[in-house]
Amino acid sequence: MASQCDVAKRAVDGSTSEFLLKDIAIRASKNEYDENHNEEGIINMSTAHNESVREIITEKFVIVNGVTSALSAMAYVLCDHGDTILTPSPMYGAIPRDLVVQSGVKTFPVYVSSKAEPDGRKPWELNVDLLEAGLENAKQEGHNVRALLLVNPINPFGTVYTKQQILEYLAFCKRHDIHCLIDEIYSASIFDESVESSSVFTFHSDELPDKEKTHIVWGTAKDFGMPGCPFGACYTWNSRVLTGLEKIVDFYQIPSFVQTAVAKMLEDKEWLRWYLPTHNKMLQESSTTVMETLKELGVSFVRPTAGLFIWADFTNIIGDVNKDTEKQFALHCLDHGLAFAPGSAFVYNELGWARLVHALPKAKVIEAMKRLKEACATFQTRYAL
Ligand SMILES: Cc1ncc(COP(=O)(O)O)c(C=O)c1O
Repeated sequence: MASQCDVAKRAVDGSTSEFLLKDIAIRASKNEYDENHNEEGIINMSTAHNESVREIITEKFVIVNGVTSALSAMAYVLCDHGDTILTPSPMYGAIPRDLVVQSGVKTFPVYVSSKAEPDGRKPWELNVDLLEAGLENAKQEGHNVRALLLVNPINPFGTVYTKQQILEYLAFCKRHDIHCLIDEIYSASIFDESVESSSVFTFHSDELPDKEKTHIVWGTAKDFGMPGCPFGACYTWNSRVLTGLEKIVDFYQIPSFVQTAVAKMLEDKEWLRWYLPTHNKMLQESSTTVMETLKELGVSFVRPTAGLFIWADFTNIIGDVNKDTEKQFALHCLDHGLAFAPGSAFVYNELGWARLVHALPKAKVIEAMKRLKEACATFQTRYAL
């Protein structure tokens, strides 16, 4: 007779044992690189922590968790257990967990292509035809799609949708009477001055095709380099969504001293006028250092204009790319003291990609790139085809 599980099914469904990203981060955290005290340690380019600003931010805030909870809470309110949210992919790998664990909401990936497509799509472009096809496929597979989730700026690309694109996606949602939830956690980390913000907060609410079904989440973890700070916010124009959130908000409380400190920080306009450009200049510099190394290595990448990372194609280094060799390459780099997240951690159907977080102090980025070059050279020697 099959024995009954000792805990609820929901507690063990969607096991995170395959969550390579987490495994890599754990190994990296057990042996952290330190310029003075642990030169042999691992440099962590895996976790999107904005470490580059740590020194300037600690002057303003005591660093102490947010959008993970905001996504979970919004999924709880917008969907019923078993419903589905469409998610352009590759995507931030924790999203399926964030939506399913407490709220029982599934994700259905809509894969963008790394190549230009015959229908005129540019590499990585998400267009409405792709969303329509994704929605149709999801329905045919029996999913009850209740929302589209966008991350803007995009993790893992480090690029920003245009305002026109966001409006098209919102119009798609209105046509199908589904919600659009936008995670804007990197919205103040646009470091290319030629790129305009397409945060929904910059739109006039009259421009929104369906204001009642447009919702935004944001938090301090990325733009302010405060991972672990329990501050996230949900913004909605819909009073029923607000009522739903109010019912569960007690489970997601932010300590009052954190609320006070964040409010003080966000109200300090003079400090923000200094902090935001300084933070973005740091991201510009660290991304440039990584791009230069990738070019030297002949590794192609998506040129980032925002966010804390670079999405790069290591096919030429890996050689015979498959799930195993992609993972082997990431683990080989880890053995060389460099942690980063392989593409498979981002729910993606193409192989050979990886995301490197560049938001680190300058000296660490330089050392990380030295290690990347060594690791690439030795990987090719050891696994030479
Ligand atoms: C797109 C996105 N949303 C949410 C999170 C998690 O945010 P928090 O640390 O505020 O829970 C991350 C973290 O990497 C992220 O990249």
